[in-house]
Amino acid sequence: MRKYFVSAAIIATFSLLLFFQISCAGKEEAKPLTQEEMIALGKYIVSTSGCDDCHTPKIFTENGPVFDTTRHLAGFPQGQVLPSLDFNMLAGKWVAAEMNLTAWVGPWGISYASNLTPDNATGIGTLSEEMFIKTLREGKWMGVGRPLLPPMPWQVIGMKTDQDLKAIYVYLKSLKPIHNEVPQPTPPDKMGDVLAQK
Ligand code: HEC
Repeated sequence: MRKYFVSAAIIATFSLLLFFQISCAGKEEAKPLTQEEMIALGKYIVSTSGCDDCHTPKIFTENGPVFDTTRHLAGFPQGQVLPSLDFNMLAGKWVAAEMNLTAWVGPWGISYASNLTPDNATGIGTLSEEMFIKTLREGKWMGVGRPLLPPMPWQVIGMKTDQDLKAIYVYLKSLKPIHNEVPQPTPPDKMGDVLAQK
């Protein structure tokens, strides 16, 4: 009888220890990250999620396109004239991208990748964290405006955790602001004005 009691006591002790270990591990995870850790996490997510593919203009080298680090995440270059395109050939069934991948032509018209640097006038400088997260969760311009156009993949980016989206925001806000005014989208009936054969 005594033997059973001792074994039961040992099992109970181990269970308790295990319980504390699990609950402590849980607590550690919930510990908020420091500002520096948030920036590092955001940088990691942005660099590995393809944001640069569309939001950073390219330099064309012998080995193909590379990101132009002087215009990191600044979006479609202000004042850039798009090459002419017979968009009727797309027949509402094809999508075309300008070589920098910062301007896209499709049935929705022309969309231009936004300036994600924290410039107050032309980037996300005045966008609050809450509105930034809303933009990516609900696919609305500045969190409350018109629906975001393709090919911005907000539907998948918006599936990231609150912490990941906050980290992206904190990282973007830590970047050098670049003044670059990206045009608003061109609606389908105005595409001819922009893409006409010159
Ligand atoms: C396939 C191209 C593509 C990729 C990849 C992409 N974007 Fe975009 N993004 C766009 C385009 C184009 C727009 C402009 C859409 C519009 O005007 O409706 C945009 C718009 C945005 C906006 C809205 C800006 C505003 O002020 O409302 C945010 C924020 C954004 N992108 C963040 C990101 C982040 C963060 C990533 C990476 C995790 C990313 N994008 C990846 C193409 C892309």
